[in-house]
Order: sequence, then structure tokens, then C-alpha cells
Amino acid sequence: MPANGHVLALDQGTTSTRAILYRTPDLMPVASAQREFPQHFPASGWVEHEAEDLWESSLAVMREAMAKAGLGPADIAGIGIANQRETALVWDRRSGQPIHRAIVWQDRRTAETCAALREAGHAGRVAAATGLLIDPYFSATKIAWMLDAVPGARAAAERGELAFGTVDSFLLWRLTEGRVHATDATNAARTLLFNIHGGTWDKELCALFRVPSAMLPEVRDCAAEFGVTTALGGRIPVLGIAGDQQAATLGQACFRPGMVKATYGTGCFALLNTGETPVVSRHRLLTTIAYQFGGRRTYALEGAIFVAGAAVQWLRDGLRLIRDASETGQLAAQSDPAARLYLVPAFVGLGVPYWDAAARGAIHGLTRASGPADFARAALECVGYQTRDLLSAMQSDMAAGTEEAVLRVDGGMVASDWTMQFLADILGAPVDRPVLQETTALGAAYLAGLQAGLCPDPDGFARSWQLQRRFLPAMPEATREAAYSGWQRAVRRTLSDIA
Ligand code: G3P
Repeated sequence: MPANGHVLALDQGTTSTRAILYRTPDLMPVASAQREFPQHFPASGWVEHEAEDLWESSLAVMREAMAKAGLGPADIAGIGIANQRETALVWDRRSGQPIHRAIVWQDRRTAETCAALREAGHAGRVAAATGLLIDPYFSATKIAWMLDAVPGARAAAERGELAFGTVDSFLLWRLTEGRVHATDATNAARTLLFNIHGGTWDKELCALFRVPSAMLPEVRDCAAEFGVTTALGGRIPVLGIAGDQQAATLGQACFRPGMVKATYGTGCFALLNTGETPVVSRHRLLTTIAYQFGGRRTYALEGAIFVAGAAVQWLRDGLRLIRDASETGQLAAQSDPAARLYLVPAFVGLGVPYWDAAARGAIHGLTRASGPADFARAALECVGYQTRDLLSAMQSDMAAGTEEAVLRVDGGMVASDWTMQFLADILGAPVDRPVLQETTALGAAYLAGLQAGLCPDPDGFARSWQLQRRFLPAMPEATREAAYSGWQRAVRRTLSDIA
């Protein structure tokens, strides 16, 4: 291994920041560190992060991982960054100070602005350029909100004094002490301001969303020279950036069209590689950039389930049925197989394919015999049912003959064998769990390793992907379809226009 044969992945997520150091070329992890940071909820539906928390936790975990491994800057060939996407930051170019807390992707404060833009008939034009819906989830209306809310900000932005960035871009600015204002194509694709076909910022959309184009970062490939940091005690180049779900897609080596991964955290994000052609969804899936190498974009269809692991958190913190998430599978296994309890976890509405923001959660099928084990089973099963909803939408959007019907899974929930077996059963398709389940960090590390010339090309990396366990469907077809029909009936009764 060369003296600097390691890469450092920084995964700046919604609830925690983590760093993992990998050796190359095989990308085996050698040390890691993680830190949670406070969430701020200043009003109903508002979610903010303190920019300094994002920066300080990033520095702290990178330093801690290096210390644990006994490695210094000279041992590290490059840094790869994966980040919570869409979350918007605006800062002063001279001082580097944010003008407001970061407005997080979950924040709904601009819902009315988005509704007005949709009613004014802009949805088609926006979708055609960006592949996205006009929704508060994405960055553009969050940026405009900050420029309007902070006195003097809009004028300063017009004069070019303020910079916008998603979290990757802000961290890069800090890491390079303001020398580099850049992002990558996957993050740019989540702003509502970026034309995913041409690969450029869209001036008309900047005008529509009232975001001065002088604020926007330069957009680069995912594996690229992003500048050099000295923040970790010596010179280390930043060589990779991708949004976290796209980084997980890379970490899962989903390089061929038709390959799909699902990451199960608080929610679940599934990305289907559609190759060099962007596919327009008929089921309100998003069209987005999976990755960009050498100026060539590979596209994905993306679907989001808002509640996955959050259903288990609800069992633990809301109902207090379990002390630890890891108990859920064991408890679920004690449920009477004949009982059919359905939890529709519309705690914050329903995503793909229903897009019902007003729906709220419901439990269907309660009997006098229903108990904790049935609740645990319903909470785990709803993740499987929702994944089937999502993958069905993807399949019907794709032309016939998509390559393979195997789902690659990662994220905290996939540790549960019970949940993964149910997922395979209800999908009627194999579910593959890899050896390295920190796929977001792995994807970021791969970008840095690729750019440094220490890791193989995508085909070579794909060959090193290792299966830990394949879950094969074992449920009889009739049982599967009866269970899924029951879920669909439960959802229909939960949708807000039925209430
Ligand atoms: O689009 C939001 C997504 O990037 C957040 O991911 O893992 O930080 O919850 P995560």
C-alpha cells in the first residue's frame, strides 16, 4: 500500500455525522467515529440545524477516526463527502458566517409558496428541467425564504456577497477556508434550480424561485478535485462528493441500468439506476442524477417512504413496547400468523405513490386478541408493504425487460433478519444484504479512492461487492397476494379524501 493509501469518508446525515477511514484498494474500514447533534423545531413543521454543529461534528468525527486508526494527514489520499441532501445554507462570502440556521429537507415552511407555484401552472416546466416536483422538500424555496426573512439578505445576495450551498458545499467552503465554492451534480440536482439534462444551473428557474444565480456554487463531477484542506493538521485533498442516497447507490455498486438499492433509516429511499437516459415517471417518482463521472450523467428513478425505522422508534418511544429496536424482530415472530394487523404509518402523510400529505396513521384489523407482538409485526411489515408499493411504481415506469429483480438493501433496519425475510416474501423477489452495510460512507470513500487512482473503475469495484446474505421469498403466492391486498385496502381507508 502506498504511504497515503487510505481514504476518509465523511457522512454528514440528518441526525448524526460519521467518519470512516478505509484502506485501499479493497476499501476495508479501519476506524470510525460518530456524533449526534441537536435538531431544532422552532415552529410546527419547521426543522433546522445549527451550521456550526454540522461543521464541528464533521471535524470532530474525522479527527477521532484518524486518532483511533493512528493515522495522520500524510496517510490519507483524499476525503469523500456524502451528505443529507436538499438542506439549504446561505452564508456571507467574506466572513463564512451563515445568515440563518440551515433549513432541513424535512422542513415544510414553504408549503404555501410551493402550492402557489403549482397553481400558477409551473409544475410541468419545473419537472421537465429538474425531474422534481414543486415541493418544500427541495432547496429552492428554502433559499428564497431566508433571503426574504433576513433583513438585507436579498440585496446582499444580488450583489454577490452571499453564497448558497447544500451541506457538502458549506463543509467544503469551511474545509478550504473559503477558497472553493463548489458542489457535485447529484446535490445540484436536488435544488429545483439545476437542469439535469444539460447539467447547468437554469436561469429561468432561478428567476421563478427568486434565487440570484450569483449565489450558486460551481458544479463538478462526483469524483473530482474539490480543493485541499489543512483543517485536519496537514494537507488532504477533497476528491469526492455525492448526496447520501446517491453515495449509497455507489456503495451498493448499482452501476448497471435496472439495479436498485433501498436504504432503510428513519425513512427509506430507493434509487433505480436507469442508465444514461432519464426516465419520466407516471407515478410521481423523482427523476434524478445517480452520479456523474467524466461529465457523463447516469440517471435514477427515486422513491421515498417517509416512515421506515421511525415505525420501530414509535414502538419504542411512543408505545414503549420495546426497550431497544433490536428486540422488534423477536417480538414480531411471536405474533399469531393468522392475525392480520396493518399499521399504515402515515405519521407525516404518505409518499410514493400516494403523495397524500394530509393522511395520518391508522391501524386496521384490531381484535380483542391483538397484543404487543402483533403491533411489532405490523410495524416491521409496513416497511415491506411500502417497499412493494414503491418498487411496483418503479417497475411500471420502466420499459419491459428491466434487468434484474433483486433489491440491494442497507441502513440500520436491515440488521433484522425477520424484516428482511418478510421483505423478500412480500416482494416475491430476492433481497441482498451486503457484507459492508455502511454503504453511504463506502460510496463516498469509493469516489475519493477512484479520483486518487487507488480504487478500480466501477466494473472492478462492482466485482468487490460482497453478499452477506440473500433472503429468498418463501411465502406461498396466495398468502403473499392476500396479505398485500389487505395492505392496499388498509391504505385506501387511510387516505385523507376518504376520511
Ligand atoms: O433527501 C434526504 C436524505 O438525503 C436524508 O438522508 O440518511 O440523512 O436521513 P438521511
